Amino acid sequence: MTTSIIVATGRNNAIGAGGDLAFHISADLRNFKTLTMGKPVIMGRKTFDSLPNGALPGRRNIVITRNPSFCAPSVETASSLNQALEMTVDAAEAMIIGGAQIYEQALPIADKLYITEIDADRPDADTFFPTIDPDGWNCEAQQWLTDEKSGIRYRFVCLSRK
Ligand SMILES: NC(=O)c1ccc[n+]([C@@H]2O[C@H](COP(=O)([O-])OP(=O)(O)OC[C@H]3O[C@@H](n4cnc5c(N)ncnc54)[C@H](OP(=O)(O)O)[C@@H]3O)[C@@H](O)[C@H]2O)c1
Repeated sequence: MTTSIIVATGRNNAIGAGGDLAFHISADLRNFKTLTMGKPVIMGRKTFDSLPNGALPGRRNIVITRNPSFCAPSVETASSLNQALEMTVDAAEAMIIGGAQIYEQALPIADKLYITEIDADRPDADTFFPTIDPDGWNCEAQQWLTDEKSGIRYRFVCLSRK
């Protein structure tokens, strides 16, 4: 099984603010849907709480929590990242979708990182992606594009562990 992380990062690796995504770029949200559809998605409880409509449809949703009474419709729970990964061992690819606490634990063991690099500041950001060691990864970066609505530049980057 391939263990993959998918994330959208702004300048300074900002990913979240006030419990919400730091940036809303529609092409990024479409890319997220394309890359995760049909695959198990693994997330921290706070990221689950931030989803506007609960569990993501068309995907097996696994929420990591220390709360044994946590329960939500169409969601399975795991008490650790390791347990979540064991639950998805039969899948070709498991997608770790955040947030910062879960990325921190998953980065040392991930095989692949799908990163949307967003060339913008979010000064009130309160959650950040951990620092990536550039020497440890092969990098394929697409060209920079511009979000029509916001004028913000972004690009899709895929890193595979060397
Ligand atoms: N830009 C992006 O691509 C992106 C993607 C995802 C999320 N985000 C943003 O990131 C923010 C949320 O990130 P976050 O770091 O605050 O929270 P998080 O990682 O989503 O969830 C943290 C929670 O996960 C559970 N958890 C963490 N480690 C655990 C462990 N080892 N064992 C068992 N449970 C564990 C705990 O849940 P309990 O408290 O229930 O025990 C903890 O409170 C939001 O602002 C969200 O919008 C951004």
